[in-house]
Amino acid sequence: MKYKACLFDLDGVLVDTAIYHFQAWKTLGANFGYILTEAQNEQLKGVSRVASLDRILAWANKEATQEQKNAWLIEKNDHYLQLISHMNPGEILPGVLLFLEDIQKLGYRIALGSASKNAQIILEKTGLATYFDAIIDGNHVSKSKPDPEVFLKGAEALQVSPETCIVFEDAEAGVEAAKRAGMMAIGIGDAHVLHQADKIIPNFTGVLASDLLKF
Ligand code: BG6
Ligand code: MG
Repeated sequence: MKYKACLFDLDGVLVDTAIYHFQAWKTLGANFGYILTEAQNEQLKGVSRVASLDRILAWANKEATQEQKNAWLIEKNDHYLQLISHMNPGEILPGVLLFLEDIQKLGYRIALGSASKNAQIILEKTGLATYFDAIIDGNHVSKSKPDPEVFLKGAEALQVSPETCIVFEDAEAGVEAAKRAGMMAIGIGDAHVLHQADKIIPNFTGVLASDLLKF
């Protein structure tokens, strides 16, 4: 088996937290009279919290001091934490659990590679934590996707080389990060957005590892 490990993004791949990020950013934007659209939220996928705020401020043509930005980042995250506090195993995306069990049986090592600093809470609330041999999230990296750091650290934590890793990503920036890490990238979602990926599937429903991971 050439490939030894599977590295998963969290938001949008294992759980649909994009709706909660959207709700929290939209509420924050309303503070300064800005209405964030769903298309703009799409562009925030995979982007760190700090970089997301900078993008929203640029779209809104809004200047802010560092102090004000820090206060907004806390406000957004407090709201987001409140929204995810109700998450449960029912919010794991369709087909994900069977796929994780499948790759576990096939002997793949499994790691998380997420930009989120809230990954641990989400993994625990949904019961997904038990599937992971290593967890690398926004608290462990200094450079966010499309920089490959998060996935390279994942490979290192699993003690495998990058070229034996397969990354699962729903964001353009994440697919780019995987390719820059020298890994195989499987895009989850829209083929137009994820054209850099080696393979693309709409979601994990009915997906068998033995079929998908044939390269
Ligand atoms: C990514 C999400 O996984 O994590 C982004 O796609 C989010 O939308 C980023 O901004 C950071 O998340 P958090 O939980 O640290 O604010
Ligand atoms: Mg994602």
